[in-house]
This record gives sequence, C-alpha cells and structure tokens, in this order.
Amino acid sequence: MLKKAMLVGLLAAIVYFVGTTVKMMGLHLHYYKHHPGTCRVIETAGPGSEDFHVTSAGLAFITSGLAFASAPSSFLEFHKINNIKGRILIYNFRNPKKGAVELKIKPNETLDLAKFKPHGISVLEDKAKGEHLVYVVNHPIPEPDAVEKFRYNPKTNELVHLKSITSKLMKITNDLAVLEEDKFYITNFNYFNNHFLTVVEGLFQLPLGGVLYYNGTGFTQVTPGLKQPNGVFLSKDLRYLYVNVMVEQQVHVYKREKDNSLALVQVVSFHSSLDNLHLSQDGKTLYIGAHPIAFKAMGHMADPPLRAPSQVLQLPLNVTNGEILMDQITELFYDHGDLITGSSVGAVYNNSLLIGSLMDALVVCNSVRAT
Ligand SMILES: *[C@@H]1O[C@H](CO)[C@@H](O)[C@H](O)[C@H]1NC(C)=O
Ligand SMILES: *[C@@H]1O[C@H](CO)[C@@H](O)[C@H](O)[C@H]1NC(C)=O
Ligand SMILES: *[C@@H]1O[C@H](CO)[C@@H](O)[C@H](O)[C@H]1NC(C)=O
Ligand SMILES: *[C@@H]1O[C@H](CO)[C@@H](O)[C@H](O)[C@H]1NC(C)=O
Repeated sequence: MLKKAMLVGLLAAIVYFVGTTVKMMGLHLHYYKHHPGTCRVIETAGPGSEDFHVTSAGLAFITSGLAFASAPSSFLEFHKINNIKGRILIYNFRNPKKGAVELKIKPNETLDLAKFKPHGISVLEDKAKGEHLVYVVNHPIPEPDAVEKFRYNPKTNELVHLKSITSKLMKITNDLAVLEEDKFYITNFNYFNNHFLTVVEGLFQLPLGGVLYYNGTGFTQVTPGLKQPNGVFLSKDLRYLYVNVMVEQQVHVYKREKDNSLALVQVVSFHSSLDNLHLSQDGKTLYIGAHPIAFKAMGHMADPPLRAPSQVLQLPLNVTNGEILMDQITELFYDHGDLITGSSVGAVYNNSLLIGSLMDALVVCNSVRAT
C-alpha cells in the first residue's frame, strides 16, 4: 500500500515536472505575425544589439556583441569564429539616415577592450551638456563581471572610460538601472559560470539569482532569491523598480524604500520569457523585448543560425502607484524570426519602434501608433 502510494506520488511529481517544463519551454505555442508599421533592418548595426537605453533627446546607446560565461559553448564558439567584437553603438532617432554608429572607446587601465563583452546598459542623462554617464554590464571572460562607467563626449562621439566596479557578490549579471551617479540596481542572472549548471538552475527553477543595490562603495542583495532575473528599469519618478523574472515569466514591481531596499507591490504573469525593459519618455508605458517561445530561443542560443520568434509588449502603467495596468497590455510586434530573431529589447520614441536582439538584427519600425 505504502509502495503504491509512493509510486503514485512519484508519478504525479514526474507529470508535474514534465508539464511545467513543457509549459515553460512553450512547446505547445504558436502565434501569428504582425508588425506595427514599416519595419526594416538597420544594416550598419551588425549582429547582436542585446540592450539599449534611449535618452530624452532620442539617442539610443546600444550594447553589441554579447557573450557571457554561462552561455552555451556553441554560442561562445560562434562568437569567436565570427570574430564578433564587444561594441557600443549609437542610433539617433532624430537622424535615422546615419544608422547605428560605433562609438570610439577611450579605455582606462581597468578596461581591456579585447575582452569587452557588454550586456545591460543604463544612462544617467546630463541634459545641459549632453555628457551622459553610461554604465554597462561587462563579462570580460575569464575575469569576473564588472560594471564599466563611461562619460559620453558628444563633441568627439567618444566614450571615456572612468572606472570598473566589481564585487564577489556579482555572479553572472545581466542588466542594471542607475539611480544617480554610482548608485544602481543590478540583476544577478545566473549563479554558476557554467552552461550545464545554469540549465539545471533553470530546469529545477532554483531561486539563485536576485537584485543587488550598489551604494557607491558596496553591494547588498535587496530581493529574496529570484529565478533568473533579467532586465531592470526604474520608473520616471524613481519610486518603483520593474524586474523581469525570466524563468517565472513574470514582471515584479517593487517600491523603493528610503534605505533603497525593495518592497514587492505587484506580480504580473506572462506567457513569454521576458528579456529587457524600457520606459517611454513620458514614463507612462513600459516596453519589453521578449522570447515568446522559450525552446526556440534556447535553440537559437545553442545554434545561432536557427531562427527564433521576436515579440515586443507594451505595458501601460498607473504612474500614481507604479502598477502595471494588466488588462491594457498589448503585443506591439510579433515576428517568426525572419526579420528579427531573438528580440531582447524594444522601445518607442516619437512613433518609431527600435528592437534589439541577442545576436541578430537591430530593427526600426516607422509610423508606429503606440500609446
Ligand atoms: C582613469 O580614469 C580616472 C578617472 O577619470 C583618472 O583619474 C585616471 O587618471 C585614469 N587613468 C588613465 C590611465 O587614464
Ligand atoms: C554601502 O554598502 C556597504 C555594503 O553593504 C556597507 O558596508 C556600507 O556601510 C554602505 N555605505 C553607506 C554610505 O551606506
Ligand atoms: C491608479 O492608482 C491610484 C492609487 O492607488 C488609484 O486611485 C487609481 O484608481 C488607479 N488608476 C487606475 C486607472 O487603475
Ligand atoms: C517626430 O517625428 C516627426 C516626423 O517623423 C518629426 O517631424 C518631428 O520633428 C519628430 N519629433 C521629435 C521630438 O523628434
């Protein structure tokens, strides 16, 4: 009897595990393509525009050439064979004919450009002089992760490296959101710097990630353990932090407390693996670049020529209490992967939608009717 009960229990556990895995991987999903305007590839960008940050004047600072230690070895091999370099590009929404232009980087002693692998990016605007501070998550494999701080020189179109920030608390980090100079939130995405263990971490949904806060001298973890938190973005009034929790397919909305700790105020579930977030310039709408069919995105990571669908979601916010207006969420863009594979970020600026991807195209859609 006991044996039978144990067997039934084990069977139920296996069915549950297989069921949740199939659901998370999206093996059963199919969607239909729609573009919100005329969309085209910005050829000058080259492969991979994983994240970007758009300033109020319409300058998008874009990270290109993503690679990180916990990525599949075939991904890293592809990177090496194709000699893909870590770069920061700039795209001006007010001068689209110029395309995406690579910024010169003036390195300082702690930044080795040969090992520069940029990931998440956050810009602190200097609206008077345009000398923005640009913070970038870097994976200088085999060295541990660091946040690189640059000052943008608009006259020379150059990024001057100022310093590298690192800590033992930073594991495989992903994205950051800067609050003020040298104060930011950053996500620990993977615990292990090894692909196999990272797959185990995802499959068994281990909460080994989290959000860290940097106060200018040290890091503190400010959330409980999370399951592969990815993109982060602050609200315009800096009172709320939005965090995409990839394995859970959720956005967590946190209220910032006086001591910079975070209090969870809302959890919104999706049927998509959410990558990076971006806020509209008026602060009323969030955009998310996502991987709607997870197993196809994983296939693309493992074998980059394989296509995977792309999706941009639009989330109207209640700016009074920071919450996402759940029943007003819309899908702004869906593509099977022909135009753009593996979308990781999207944002609308003045009726143009810019979409970046893990290691595929940078796309712009014009005449977009957003909020
Ligand atoms: C690196 O940047 C810091 C801050 O701007 C500066 O004090 C230092 O002299 C720089 N070092 C080099 C080698 O440029
Ligand atoms: C900054 O954070 C570190 C690490 O938690 C802590 O030791 C230090 O006291 C903090 N500094 C300030 C000014 O809060
Ligand atoms: C926004 O939040 C405020 C404060 O909680 C609430 O009074 C208001 O009804 C909300 N608006 C919407 C559209 O949900
Ligand atoms: C927005 O785009 C329109 C036409 O594309 C242009 O005339 C206008 O100047 C742009 N506005 C800004 C703020 O860039």
